[in-house]
Amino acid sequence: MATVPNDISDVIEADRKNVWHHLIQHKAFENVDPRVMIEGKGMRVWDATGKEHLDAVSGGVWTVNVGYGRERIANAVRDQLIQMPYFSGSAGSIPGAKFAEMVTERMPGMDRVYYCNSGSEANEKAFKMVRQIAHKKYGGKKHKILYRERDYHGTTIACLSAGGQPERNAQYGPFTPGFVEVPHCLEYRAQVETENYGEWAANQIEEVILREGPDTVGALCLEPVTAGGGVIVPPEGYWDRVQEVCKKYDILLHIDEVVCGVGRTGEWFGYQHYGVKPDFVTMAKGVASGYAAIACMVTTDEVFAMFKDDADDPLGYFRDISTFGGCTAGPAAAIENMGIIEDEDLLANTTAMGARLMDNLWALQEKHRVIGDVRGKGLFCGAELVADRQTKEAVDEKKAQAVAADCMAQGVIIGVTNRSLPGLNNTLCFSPALISTADDIDQITSAVDKALTKVFS
Ligand SMILES: Cc1ncc(COP(=O)(O)O)c(C=O)c1O
Repeated sequence: MATVPNDISDVIEADRKNVWHHLIQHKAFENVDPRVMIEGKGMRVWDATGKEHLDAVSGGVWTVNVGYGRERIANAVRDQLIQMPYFSGSAGSIPGAKFAEMVTERMPGMDRVYYCNSGSEANEKAFKMVRQIAHKKYGGKKHKILYRERDYHGTTIACLSAGGQPERNAQYGPFTPGFVEVPHCLEYRAQVETENYGEWAANQIEEVILREGPDTVGALCLEPVTAGGGVIVPPEGYWDRVQEVCKKYDILLHIDEVVCGVGRTGEWFGYQHYGVKPDFVTMAKGVASGYAAIACMVTTDEVFAMFKDDADDPLGYFRDISTFGGCTAGPAAAIENMGIIEDEDLLANTTAMGARLMDNLWALQEKHRVIGDVRGKGLFCGAELVADRQTKEAVDEKKAQAVAADCMAQGVIIGVTNRSLPGLNNTLCFSPALISTADDIDQITSAVDKALTKVFS
């Protein structure tokens, strides 16, 4: 039961009048109330009507990994704010130093943490470093950044320039030059028939590098498991070949862990499933589970050294600042968040509950022909809906949305890929908190079962 009084009609009116919600067409709010969430506990949230929901998407966008109502995080943030809320990141802070040590201990080979406050911003930091390295070492030539079709790296113009989702990008151009797309690696929608699709897809990256000229390509930026582009788990053999290619052409590897990072896939980081050795790792959402805004760009001693080798060069260091990267609430929350994951053994729970979620989704696939493919890693799963299993023609996106809407009416919040790829916004998304129990998982898939029956019968 929610403890906040339900009559907050003044809040709803203020929201309707003055708030511009994210990623939503507002016309409907002329007739219906905007949804306002007022309380959360564990896996459950209550909206302004008092209705309880099981949240299968961790705050809508795979963020609240340790669940709602964590007093341990709130108390640490409160204490830290009273002691020292802020000082510019040119100086250090106690939680900043402690969390940097804590996170790099869980990332062998990674050494330096640059704090900022959104996933987009963290990615921008890595892009800027790649550009600066190009200037420092290669006369500006090796400046191109490769990104992959269907991946997303954030909302700023440079991040959209590295965005492989045409519906996210449409109408926001012109974009930043020097970003080049490589093909996706979704085997279900393989571009060719081949025995070893993983190797083939990675070889396509090499083709692009050779086309562009290896001496012009500075970095490759990839999500370990693509999130909003359709929950794409890379095929067997993909990452080994990707790493070989990067090594061969001296290309830095930037892994965007904004969604996968800090436990979501059952390892601390998604890349750790695949033996990847990154040069940059960016993370945001799950770092403090949304209790405070924090993002990190983590890099190696080798990269860091390039920015301090010539102390006499006034332009030689990383001349960048993120004002709110100096907020101490972020790392204070992140320390407790990581502590909770460890103390409650949530990585193991994520693996176990992720397996149950996949089993349940496969069972639904047996029952509902509309489920063409089920994909996932840990508590990060997707079910792609198709009108025809043979041709793999996607269902009308309105039908996929109707499934999510029906689940919502049943009190279970699931996701669906949205304004991402034209004609392919057809994947149901599941990313419940890492504290999920077997009952929670079964409740989620049972709601989906009912919704699929209703929408497609
Ligand atoms: C993989 C990935 N990278 C980056 C971002 C951008 O993060 P933010 O919204 O915090 O800027 C997102 C956001 O959804 C994401 O999914």
